[in-house]
Amino acid sequence: MNYQNSLVVTLLIICVVPNRSVAESSVAQRGHPIKQESFGQTKDGKNVELYTITNSHGVEVRAINYGGIVVSLRVPDKNGKLDDVVLGFDKLDGYLDKSPYFGAIVGRYGNRIANGKFTLDGKEYSLAKNNGPNALHGGLKGFDKAIWAAEPFQNNQGKGVVFTYTSKDGEEGYPGNLKVKVTYTLTDKNELIFDYQATTDKATPVNLTEHSYFNLAGEGTGDVLKHELMLNADRFTPVDKTLIPTGELRAVKGTPFDFRTPIAVGARIDDNYEQLAFGGGYDHNFVINRKTGDLQLAARVYEPTSGRVMEVYTTEPGVQFYSGNFLDGTITGKQGHVYKRRYALCLETQHFPDSPNHPEFPSTILRPGQTLHSRTIYKFSAQK
Ligand code: BGC
Repeated sequence: MNYQNSLVVTLLIICVVPNRSVAESSVAQRGHPIKQESFGQTKDGKNVELYTITNSHGVEVRAINYGGIVVSLRVPDKNGKLDDVVLGFDKLDGYLDKSPYFGAIVGRYGNRIANGKFTLDGKEYSLAKNNGPNALHGGLKGFDKAIWAAEPFQNNQGKGVVFTYTSKDGEEGYPGNLKVKVTYTLTDKNELIFDYQATTDKATPVNLTEHSYFNLAGEGTGDVLKHELMLNADRFTPVDKTLIPTGELRAVKGTPFDFRTPIAVGARIDDNYEQLAFGGGYDHNFVINRKTGDLQLAARVYEPTSGRVMEVYTTEPGVQFYSGNFLDGTITGKQGHVYKRRYALCLETQHFPDSPNHPEFPSTILRPGQTLHSRTIYKFSAQK
C-alpha cells in the first residue's frame, strides 16, 4: 500500500470507529479495569458516561462526566463488607433535577460570595444570587452541571479518570477562559485522590472543591450524629446569618467548634451558640492548622458501628464542615432512600468563603501565566 492509500485507510478507521470503542479497546489492551458505559442523556441530548474504577481491595468509585459527580463509593467496613458511603441517585435524572451538589466538582467558585459581587483590578463583577442575597457554588450553571471531557488512565499511583472543562470568559459572570483539569485517582491504599489544575487568560477568582455527602454507615441508613469527627483546626471563620464570613478568625477553644480531639458530630450540634443557629448546625469553614502548603491531615471521621474511617488530606487552607442541615426529607435518593436532616456530612476542602471580598484571607485570584495546583485525598480504612 502506498503512503496515500494507507493514510486513507487510517483516516477511515479513525472516522468509522466511535470514540468510546477506541477508549475501551485501548483500555482493555493495557488490562485496564476501568469500565465505561452510558449513564443516560441530559435534557438537551448530551450523552453522559459512567466510569467504574475498582482497586485490588474491591473499593469501587463510580463517577460520571456530568459535573464530575462521584455517584457511588463503596468501601469496606471492619468485617470487609462493602457499602456505598455517599448520597446520590440511581439515575441521571435525579442529578439533573434537584441535586444539592451531591458528589460534584464545585466551581468556578465553591462556597459563597457576598451579594454576588466582587471587585478585581478595579472592575466590579456581578454574579447570579442563587442563595438568598449571595452567590453560591459557581452560579446557576456551575461546574457541577457541566459536561466534562473524560479520559480514563492508569499509572504507577493507581487508576482513574482525568476530567477537563473549559469555562468560557463571562460564564456565570466570571472573567477569563478558565481551563480546568481534575484528575481522580483510586490507589491500592484505598485513597481517592483529587488533583486540581487550572489556568486562565484573565485574572479570575477560582475555588474548586468536591462535594460528596458522606455517611460512613452507608448512604440512607440514618443521620451522622454519632460519627466521630476530628478537625485539625484551631480556628474557624464565623459567619453572619447569610453564612458569609465576618472576617474574624475565631479560636475554637471553649466552643462547640472544637473538634481537635475526636467527638461525636451530634454532641454539641444543638447547643445554644449563635454560629450553630446561623448554620442550622455546622456549615462553617475551618482554618486548617498547617506550617507549609504541603498535604496536611485536615479531618478524620470514624463511624462506630461499621468501624469505617475516612481521613481527609489537603493542600487547601480551609475545609467547610457541613452537617447536612438542609437535607429535609424531600429528596429520595438511591434505592428509594429518603435523605433526611443530617443524613450526611460534607468536608469540602477549599479556600475560605467570600475570599474575593476579604483581602486578608488567602488569595483565590488566578492570573494569566499562573497554574493553580491543589490536591485533596480521601483515605478509607476500618478499625475494629
Ligand atoms: C454549603 C451549604 C449548602 C450545601 C449545598 C455547602 O457547601 O455550605 O450551606 O447547603 O453546600 O449547597
